[in-house]
Amino acid sequence: MALLPILEFPDPRLRTKAVPVDPARVADPAFQRLLDDMFETMYAAPGIGLAASQVDVHQRFMVIDVTEDKSRPLVFINPEITARAGEQVYQEGCLSVPGIFADVTRANEITVRALDRTGAPFELHVDGLLAVCIQHEMDHLEGRLFVDYLSPLKREMVRKKLAKQRRHAAA
Ligand code: NI
Repeated sequence: MALLPILEFPDPRLRTKAVPVDPARVADPAFQRLLDDMFETMYAAPGIGLAASQVDVHQRFMVIDVTEDKSRPLVFINPEITARAGEQVYQEGCLSVPGIFADVTRANEITVRALDRTGAPFELHVDGLLAVCIQHEMDHLEGRLFVDYLSPLKREMVRKKLAKQRRHAAA
């Protein structure tokens, strides 16, 4: 397995709209290895979700594990939200926007349909943090980031803060 480089805001590649995965490709060893590498990269970060877009693969899939003991790794291939209800505000972060956290309002409950890593279809009805995480990762597949929900002024502050962090890291 290998750690993958994660694209960081404002990298324009994060704005790419991902294309559907060909279900016939899911069993390919290269695709399965990519899923393993994405889990390893996410756990090492550490993070609770990683969309393919963030590792510069612009196809519709993502990995998620919101547990503290890495006990529920979930793969969503070609995910679709079929129902949403309620509202919740959660202070989100993102591996592509390191060190930045901000409140985002999203649906509290969702029903999501996807293929798992064997290519089998499944449906989940979830709420709370897992619902937030699924919506956040699915935004990545549309080329959308959580900072897009902030005001333009706040987003510019985030961009400057990240540029400063990078200068310090390079120094
Ligand atoms: Ni993210």
